[in-house]
Amino acid sequence: MRGTLYLVNRAHPLAGEPEAEALVPVDDSHPRIRLHARAKTMLEQLLTAVGGRGAIVPVSGYRPRSEQQAIWDDSLAEHGQKFTETYVAMPGCSEHQTGLAIDLGENRPDIDFLCPAFPDDGPCGELRRRAADYGFVLRYPEGKEAVTGIGHEPWHFRYVGWPHARLMEERGLVLEEYLSWLHEFPLGAEPLRYQGLGRQFEISYVPAEQAAELEFPANLPCQTSDTNEGGVVLTVWRDAG
Ligand code: DAL
Ligand code: ZN
Repeated sequence: MRGTLYLVNRAHPLAGEPEAEALVPVDDSHPRIRLHARAKTMLEQLLTAVGGRGAIVPVSGYRPRSEQQAIWDDSLAEHGQKFTETYVAMPGCSEHQTGLAIDLGENRPDIDFLCPAFPDDGPCGELRRRAADYGFVLRYPEGKEAVTGIGHEPWHFRYVGWPHARLMEERGLVLEEYLSWLHEFPLGAEPLRYQGLGRQFEISYVPAEQAAELEFPANLPCQTSDTNEGGVVLTVWRDAG
């Protein structure tokens, strides 16, 4: 798994586990909740920006497959199949297994592990509204249940990075829809252009057969991300000029 746009859902199970050294504790108070290092840094900045430190707490971050299996089994026993299929991804199909997803909850007594309270006002609401500025998206929004296969989860945020989070937010696209849209910008044709943060971003989709031979000029600031659906997304950062 390379990059931040890795798609994980029922139709796109995870091929492997992220490298253990890429995972870090989300903060000193929650040493057992781990996240991908870059996502942890951006979450810290987001929480500070919205005055959410203390008021919003991490509930669940990286989960190895074995933990997702245990959560699935416990939920089935306690809540039944309908609830479990709505709010728990099948083992092997949870983006918590990537280290790029974090469940956040309002800090209150008795935080529910599966469905933590995350109201739309106060610091939680502010965090949701500012999340895209820091590369996070609300992964399972209301109205997209048929696309994501998961119920509305106001507590589950996914790090996809910049400018992808901003583009998804502006267009109201979930990750499944965003990646489908990027297919319209194959490498070699006109890229998807987006201006922000004083930069010009150029995004292209590299089909699987081209991805293996991809070579970049050494001086080109760019990122590549696997998608778990064959192709690779290439994001080039240029000065806005
Ligand atoms: N609650 C989300 C869907 C998960 O289990 O990954
Ligand atoms: Zn979650």
